[in-house]
Amino acid sequence: MSRLIVVSNRVAPTQEGSPAAGGLAIGVLDALKETGGVWFGWNGEIVGHAQPPSIEKQGSVTYATVGLTRRDYDQYYRGFSNATLWPTFHYRTDLSRYDRQEYAGYLRVNVSFAKQLAAMLEPGDMIWVHDYHLLPFACALRNLGVTNPIGFFLHIPFPVPEMLRTVPPHEELVKCLCSYDLVGFQTESDRQSFVDYVERGGFGSVSEDGMMQAFGRVLKVGAYPIGIYPDAVAQAAEQYAHRKPVLALRDATRGRQLIMSVDRLDYSKGLVERFQAFERLLLHSPGLHGRVSLVQIAPPTRSDVQTYQRIRQTLEGEAGRINGRFAQLDWTPIQYLNRNYERNLLMSLFRLAQVGYVTPLRDGMNLVAKEYVASQDPSDPGVLVLSQFAGAAEQLPGALVVNPFDLTQMADALARALAMPLKERQARYADMMARLRANDLSTWRDAFLDDLRHVATAASVTRKA
Ligand code: ADP
Ligand code: F6P
Repeated sequence: MSRLIVVSNRVAPTQEGSPAAGGLAIGVLDALKETGGVWFGWNGEIVGHAQPPSIEKQGSVTYATVGLTRRDYDQYYRGFSNATLWPTFHYRTDLSRYDRQEYAGYLRVNVSFAKQLAAMLEPGDMIWVHDYHLLPFACALRNLGVTNPIGFFLHIPFPVPEMLRTVPPHEELVKCLCSYDLVGFQTESDRQSFVDYVERGGFGSVSEDGMMQAFGRVLKVGAYPIGIYPDAVAQAAEQYAHRKPVLALRDATRGRQLIMSVDRLDYSKGLVERFQAFERLLLHSPGLHGRVSLVQIAPPTRSDVQTYQRIRQTLEGEAGRINGRFAQLDWTPIQYLNRNYERNLLMSLFRLAQVGYVTPLRDGMNLVAKEYVASQDPSDPGVLVLSQFAGAAEQLPGALVVNPFDLTQMADALARALAMPLKERQARYADMMARLRANDLSTWRDAFLDDLRHVATAASVTRKA
């Protein structure tokens, strides 16, 4: 068995409830715990000067983590990753900016991570790299002479070529992506956008089996939608039902219906539009006043990036305005909480809600949508209202799928969800649960790693021939 080496910028926090984890850390941690292996990445700290990785073993996983200097953090993480790539890949070119120095820092950190990892590699190791912070990582490893199989999985959307071309070094980035042996995306449409960029740009072509020849290399490109462990989520939701915060929310909303949203406080999550659609619901349905609450849990994230400071201010303004407009002495329509919760507890909170309200403007997958479904009580399940622009929408047709830019459609979907008869809710839940089980987290991991192994073996046979 070859050793699995996972590389990502964000490594799962070792303490529950600390920074807003995000889908990557949650997914990778669950997947890696079972296979065992090494997890290399940033430890979340800013350090005075670069140091070798610190190594910590926890069960089957060895963590090798490094700090970032202030300059590296500013240029690589806060700059090119989160102020250029993130907005562009989420179709917000209006929020994207480009700075050559930041891009140079992005490349520099990729090279420095690659050097540190290369020193730890053994010949049979399989390397699995995650997300947009590390697009050039394979290039950096190959330049150091590393020949191990290297796969890459993108957790966020891959934009259409016109959008990608707004990032000045787009060609260099795509060329580096082609240094991987396998490149995986969340959805078929993300995969297609990548193929379109390569083919329309005349850089290469892809065959029906997903093998791509581009920039003088052969690689595979595929869609591997990330999943969850639905039965473990269901179990957690049940087990934590008697914890204090869960009981508190249940008591506070007794006699009312509950709509629940949980996201990192990110402009891609469509939080403002979501609040405004809820406002529209209240405006058109006076009968719901005092009878329905929206709970939005949104811990701050990347708060030193300006666009994130702005969305926070806007959202606070909107929550205050809407509450001011509709609140009664014994009813606050929107409860807006900027904090993290222990993950299992969160699943119990989902179980209390009649509606899971998940409406990103763009999202790679959105694990919250899947977790909401899996948390439900099968005898009295809630309804998922889901954006058509979340990767999860391709997989959860049992949701009420909405366009998050259409506030009236969202308000109507909320009204329909709140009034949906039990039989229909059960049928939708059963359909979605079956899909979640058939495509769980191990399906994602195994499909990706099997393909990586396969492509790498084929490549080594070709090299020997
Ligand atoms: P993203 O990766 O963009 O953050 P996802 O919905 O795919 O979005 O993943 C978010 C993950 O982080 C989910 O597993 C969710 O349960 C977890 N999470 C989100 N918000 C919180 C919170 N306030 N407290 C604890 N966990 C959270
Ligand atoms: O899954 C998307 C993602 O961007 C991950 O890459 C990232 O780790 C997570 O959300 C949270 O963001 P950050 O690592 O910047 O805190």
